[in-house]
Amino acid sequence: MRLFLDTANIEEIRHAARLGILSGVTTNPSLMAKESGISYRERVVEICEVVNGPVSAECISRELADLLKEAREVATWHSNVVVKIPIDEVGLEATAVLSREGIAINMTLIFSANQALLAATAGASYVSPFVGRIDDAGQDGMEVVRESVAIFDSYHLPAQVLAASLRHPRHVIAAARAGAPIATLPYTVLKAMVKHPLTDVGIERFVADARSYQAEPARERANS
Ligand code: G3P
Repeated sequence: MRLFLDTANIEEIRHAARLGILSGVTTNPSLMAKESGISYRERVVEICEVVNGPVSAECISRELADLLKEAREVATWHSNVVVKIPIDEVGLEATAVLSREGIAINMTLIFSANQALLAATAGASYVSPFVGRIDDAGQDGMEVVRESVAIFDSYHLPAQVLAASLRHPRHVIAAARAGAPIATLPYTVLKAMVKHPLTDVGIERFVADARSYQAEPARERANS
């Protein structure tokens, strides 16, 4: 399973890359709105220079001609860029055209396995169910991941399920168990995955024991 970071914050991305766990990044306009003093294009290029993997950059145009123009432009930003397009009829039509041109698409705002099937059939390379938001609506977000993975596998659809809108570490495990080849995580979820209280206690004890051992004179150790 590949782990992506769901952020437009370059420091978070640099840190995750240093940890050796980062295979890609997903961004969207809401994540970009938290950043300041830099254009979306500049930030995406900056991210692409840190991450040797797919970096999703989202289009906002709502008319087909505008969306095609915007997507073709976004695709030129960097060879790592994957163009993110929300699913609707215009989005599907654009995906059909752009995928035939060899542009990689991440179809986003997926809330049902039906939408996932349509996105994959239209030619999206990545399909992003929003697990947390489905859960928020009182349904089972992970079931959409599970069904989408099963459908893509059964029919050899080349699209990859990218589990998104993950809110906590158990979501990541559930996505892995549901067979999602990719999960995109907020930085806070990544940090929470690293931590375990027993690890902290264990490190503290090892360090304290090592100090007491090192403090003991070598002579006494030799005589004991
Ligand atoms: O990747 C999708 C993500 O950014 C949405 O997350 O927590 O706003 O539902 P959330």
